[in-house]
Amino acid sequence: MCGIVGFTGKQDAAPILLNGLKKLEYRGYDSAGIAVCNAGGISLAKVSGRIARLCEKTDDGKNMPGFTGIGHTRWATHGAPTDINAHPHMSCDGRFSVVHNGIIENYMELRQELSSKGYIFASETDTEVIVHLIEMYYKGDFREAVMKAASRLEGSYALGVLCADCPDRLIAVREASPLILGIGIGENFFASDVTALVSHTRNVMYLDDGEFAELSPKGISVFDCTGASVHKKISHINWSIEAAEKGGFEHFMLKEIMEQPRAVESTISPRLQQNDIHLDDSDFSPEELKSIQRIIITACGSAYYAGCAGKTAIEKLCRLPVDVILASELRYAEPQIDEHTLLIVLSQSGETADTIAAMTECKKLGAKTLAIVNVVGSTIAKLADRTLYTWAGPEIAVATTKGYTTQLAVLYIFALYAAKTMKLLSREEYLRLLDALRSLPKKIQQALDMNPLLPKLAEKYSSNHSVFYIGRNSDYAVALEAALKMKEISYIHAEAYAAGELKHGTIALIDEGQPVIALCCNNKIWEKTANNIVEVKTRGAQVLALASKGNRAVLAQADDVIFIPQIDPMFQAAVEIIPLQLLAYHAAKAKGCDIDKPKNLAKSVTVE
Ligand code: AGP
Repeated sequence: MCGIVGFTGKQDAAPILLNGLKKLEYRGYDSAGIAVCNAGGISLAKVSGRIARLCEKTDDGKNMPGFTGIGHTRWATHGAPTDINAHPHMSCDGRFSVVHNGIIENYMELRQELSSKGYIFASETDTEVIVHLIEMYYKGDFREAVMKAASRLEGSYALGVLCADCPDRLIAVREASPLILGIGIGENFFASDVTALVSHTRNVMYLDDGEFAELSPKGISVFDCTGASVHKKISHINWSIEAAEKGGFEHFMLKEIMEQPRAVESTISPRLQQNDIHLDDSDFSPEELKSIQRIIITACGSAYYAGCAGKTAIEKLCRLPVDVILASELRYAEPQIDEHTLLIVLSQSGETADTIAAMTECKKLGAKTLAIVNVVGSTIAKLADRTLYTWAGPEIAVATTKGYTTQLAVLYIFALYAAKTMKLLSREEYLRLLDALRSLPKKIQQALDMNPLLPKLAEKYSSNHSVFYIGRNSDYAVALEAALKMKEISYIHAEAYAAGELKHGTIALIDEGQPVIALCCNNKIWEKTANNIVEVKTRGAQVLALASKGNRAVLAQADDVIFIPQIDPMFQAAVEIIPLQLLAYHAAKAKGCDIDKPKNLAKSVTVE
């Protein structure tokens, strides 16, 4: 997710903006820029790459005089990370400059409207429509022009706006993307989070959705979309800077676990317009989809497990055989692939060496490729014929969480889109599944609300040297990811096992007190796994079961039960994993592990 800073006061803004952006570097970004107002108008400097390049370009801000300005670190969603696509964006007449954090869902129609009115676009971004809207509505009243422009936007946006006609004023806007106002003495600030503010002031006001703020060195006024003033409480920040980077959470991993409803929402909602699904600019024709005879999903680690969990949706809805193959295996497997094979490549980083190699081999054999990645402009995104981004925002913790659930969300979207395009679904079934998919962020939030229950369960089920996760079909697929989470952050050996396989040998390992996590959420076959609970309990295991809310029968079998919110089985994996992410997190926390940077692990494995 992007970072925004703004300053107006009695000293040069550029050095303050650059330092503020440095405080936001932890959020992850691929480009940066600042714009400063001075007597000559607005001066602009922006680069792809690191803030150090921006400091070099502006001589640490010395060559950009002016007391009012805005700054931005970009995490690309629309348009590759280039100098042109970096923020701030300028109006055609150079009078306005804008920085934005969020996704403008109706940017294509606004871009068409503005282009038809003669506005020239320099970038590929969704953001640029905002600055041209402001220019279009400007009749001399800065505040009014921003309000009118904001009224046309759909989606999420935290905005900072500069106007050359008002060199000592800034306007900030908030809609579904955080924006905080910093109150100084003779100077005022805004930023995406407190990290960029605390070195100047600890007195802040939190803008709420639908609110605007006008900042000048003399003060800050907050108003709503009608222009009516809004009273805001002043809060005092007593966090340390390090805590502020994590948004008040103890670890990035917990912050990212808790961000999943928003991450999944950002990934789903721009693609589900009314009752239709669009795959950005990656739409397939019915003929292309019908020419696919086989789908292979390839990835590594959690991305591979996301493929295992998402496979069922594609198989059932598209009625196509789907194989999920580890990239490190596929690259040497000499698979039977031709132009009728669709290779779906999953990767959070887009830079995993094994995945790139497997993809390259399959492309040589004629496969069509669809990448599902979180990093715009990454190697895998560039290699693919088509790319669908997971708009999860930067993932800082080495152990992925929102990367996994947003990959599942995109697989669900693709499955539903393909089934509809090939006319394999009745309208009624399609709409029913569309509604279920839209409910996913809310269901994930309901699962997150169980967090207070998890520390005690984590203590009870991770006290041993090992943990078994058992399940069947979709439950087994989720068990694979759950076991990896436990292993990689708590260093407790965890094994996911197909529940039906236990009796073929592994049950010999079940001793008195052996913790077993039994995933019984698949309502069609949970009783089979419940039988396995009995098997392991008779050998002394203690069992924590996961079941779908309402399935009270499972209470009779397990020692403890977590009930997950009900959702269509097609999309259940993205909800079922939530308590298991939290279980692993609390187990690791109880052990005092380095949760965000586990030993021996890297966020992106760019070597074989
Ligand atoms: C996930 O928690 C691990 N850090 C790791 O398995 C990761 O999923 C794997 O390395 C693949 O990374 P990618 O998604 O960036 O390709």
